[in-house]
Amino acid sequence: MRPVTGRVLERESLHACLDSPVMGSITFLNEVMGRFPDAVSFAPGAPHTAFFDEIDIPRHLDRYRRYLEEERGLTSAQVDRLLYQYGPSRGLINELVAQALKADQGIDVPEESIVVTVGCQEAILLVLRALFTSPRNVLAVVNPCFVGLSGAANLLGIDTVAVDDTEEGLDFAQLDEVCRRARESGSRIRAMYVAPDFSNPSGSCLSLEARHRLLAVAEREDLLLLEDNAYAFTTTDAAALPPLKALPGGERVVHLGTFAKTCMPGARVGYVVADQPVRQVSGGTGMLADELATVKSMVTVNTSPISQAVIGGILLEHQGSVAKAARAKGELYQRNLRILLDALDRHLGAGTGAPAGVSWNRPGGGFFVRLHLTVPADEPLLQRSAQEFGVLWTPMSPFYIGSGGDHQLRLACSYLDPEQIEEGVRRLARFLRAVCP
Ligand SMILES: Cc1ncc(COP(=O)(O)O)c(C=O)c1O
Repeated sequence: MRPVTGRVLERESLHACLDSPVMGSITFLNEVMGRFPDAVSFAPGAPHTAFFDEIDIPRHLDRYRRYLEEERGLTSAQVDRLLYQYGPSRGLINELVAQALKADQGIDVPEESIVVTVGCQEAILLVLRALFTSPRNVLAVVNPCFVGLSGAANLLGIDTVAVDDTEEGLDFAQLDEVCRRARESGSRIRAMYVAPDFSNPSGSCLSLEARHRLLAVAEREDLLLLEDNAYAFTTTDAAALPPLKALPGGERVVHLGTFAKTCMPGARVGYVVADQPVRQVSGGTGMLADELATVKSMVTVNTSPISQAVIGGILLEHQGSVAKAARAKGELYQRNLRILLDALDRHLGAGTGAPAGVSWNRPGGGFFVRLHLTVPADEPLLQRSAQEFGVLWTPMSPFYIGSGGDHQLRLACSYLDPEQIEEGVRRLARFLRAVCP
């Protein structure tokens, strides 16, 4: 290592968000994974690499080019300019995204209401930046919560308040209480973040009844719902539920999506649907999407046109449907989840002699299963699990707003093959027998 020279910065002089426990836990997890490369890792919620073989960047680019030339009437030089030049902050493939949302999910919105972002993560950041203007505006989140959301709120200095998830989705009594308390203290729940379909990290899903009920609360309390749709494609057609945005009352929903899991994570393309009207000071009316595009122009300027063209090409090759593009992926994730749940039953279920008090949920889709233990699932325990038993997982407590989740861990099955899942659960069972009383 080179000797440290020059002006030393004190860590305390840097932004407080860098001290968040979430950031520390991600660093720790990466570091443990690096040290135990042979361990079976249920830690990363990354897409499976099997589908990378299908990716053919020149072909996807060519497909999108042909679309622009043949269907949109652009010359080759105009297409070059569109793909190689800086582009509009709002995005290039908005009309394709709008068509896919309508065909696949029944979300019927104009293309002007969409901003194409650098992953869903940027969409989250833009929406939070635009909506939260004062310390009296509070963000409610379903707890436990995706760290990309809590991390972005932390980065922007936005206060969050937790509403627990339940088997049906979320604790509505607690949500009522949170809204009431906010009103009484002179603050206001401006928006609520929710991932209705197989949330990260807990895998929980909002029933149809809970979706309607949540929309009614949003209307009554005058708040916006920030709907994260990342894992909706992983369910079966028969079990799929409509997104909040497509239900009556959906005008209150800002819908966030990503092509990372359905098409290609490395493209870093996501989107936000923000069709809420905004009255301008000058008197006219625009859309929230216009404001988000303005924020984006000061964050990433525009999403890479090349990346957008690749995603556009993939959509066009699948008749404009994300559902079609992602069908085989959804089936693989369904299969992996079934194998994981089945292996948990066989190695840790009733009658297997597994330690009492170990239990898990049974999501119908998504990448994640949440396991409850009788001992704290903390970093020292993870270290022991990796070192002595060769299996990695993610402690759940960093996903909780405030305290909670100390005795829980998250298992992700998206990235693994069936034999690895089986072997991983075998190792996990040995480990739990050794550490749980
Ligand atoms: C619930 C959820 N939302 C959003 C994202 C981020 O998506 P992107 O990779 O498009 O930024 C993830 C990624 O893991 C996620 O789990």
